[in-house]
Amino acid sequence: METRLDLDGNTIKPIKICMIGAGGFIGSHLCEKLLTETPHTILAVDVYNDKIKHLLEQPSSYQPHHWADRIQFHRLNIKNDPRLECLIKLSDLTINLAAICTPADYNTRPLDTIYSNFIDALPVVRYCSENGKRLIRFIYAEGAENGLEFTIVRPFNWIGPRMDFIPGVDGPSEGVPRVLACFSNNLLRREPLKLVDGGQSQRTFVYIKDAIEAVLLMIENPDRANGHTFNVGNPNNEVTVKQLAEIMTQVYSKVSGEPPLEVPTIDVSSEEFYGEGYDDSDKRIPDMTIINRQLGWNPKTSLHDLLDSTMTYQHKTYAEAIKKVMTKPTATT
Ligand SMILES: NC(=O)c1ccc[n+]([C@@H]2O[C@H](COP(=O)([O-])OP(=O)(O)OC[C@H]3O[C@@H](n4cnc5c(N)ncnc54)[C@H](O)[C@@H]3O)[C@@H](O)[C@H]2O)c1
Repeated sequence: METRLDLDGNTIKPIKICMIGAGGFIGSHLCEKLLTETPHTILAVDVYNDKIKHLLEQPSSYQPHHWADRIQFHRLNIKNDPRLECLIKLSDLTINLAAICTPADYNTRPLDTIYSNFIDALPVVRYCSENGKRLIRFIYAEGAENGLEFTIVRPFNWIGPRMDFIPGVDGPSEGVPRVLACFSNNLLRREPLKLVDGGQSQRTFVYIKDAIEAVLLMIENPDRANGHTFNVGNPNNEVTVKQLAEIMTQVYSKVSGEPPLEVPTIDVSSEEFYGEGYDDSDKRIPDMTIINRQLGWNPKTSLHDLLDSTMTYQHKTYAEAIKKVMTKPTATT
């Protein structure tokens, strides 16, 4: 592996990273990137490891850059496991990705959501602060506190392969609760896409592999990243949800070889879709000023290309399973 240089031309030394939530969507891509392109070591913490099994199981001799020697999985729940502090102490940097981030859950499991995003993460913040360790935190909310050694990442719709959803229901599982995952689900089941309140909200989408490049810059350039909050998104990929439905319908038709539905979309109210009391902003655009200035990062992948890659993966992974579920005769009593 070639010597890696940071943005100021200094040699990057291998570090040990405690990655909490490593088994999720973002974590799995970040583990892959770190193992294939850097010399860093990962202590991967999660309650699940399905999405990183391919990185844990390969025998060392088949792997470039000795993957197996550089990733260790620790199955633990950060809510109540004393091993967490030891793992943080052993590491140079902690990255916390663990959270509930499903909009449907905000209404139905409000306390779990608040606990998972704020309260459960507090020991991680405390252990890092008490042991003088760097921390990169992923958050939803504005105005989170920051400290000298801490970097905050505000992701704006990171999209790509391994985005999670449960075939057979409208909402995705915990992880990536995006309109995009719901639409994929509808497309796979050949059902009209549901446009909430006419689909006039605007959203931006960034390709996971572009976004992971940004996180790697933060990891390897602590002097430029510490103390900052970075928006990581792609303002160039802005569409209304209605436009997104149209593009996804076309891309899916190309990927699957199936003709688009005659009635590709239907309107539903936000109350019907999310439940009473749900509210969301009409427009969210990431301001890229700070990430541009500090890390010189810019996303590259167009909306069409990221949808093509994501939907190709989803079609390959789920289409057969969904067909089987849908053609199963229902039991009669
Ligand atoms: N993907 C996005 O576009 C997006 C958008 C906004 C915010 N985020 C934030 O980024 C982070 C990661 O997102 P993701 O898409 O990878 O989510 P994800 O659900 O795929 O991954 C989160 C992982 O954390 C693990 N986890 C949750 N609670 C845990 C606990 N108590 N102990 C141990 N492990 C636990 C889960 O098992 C899961 O594997 C989250 O903090 C999320 O709020 C992501």
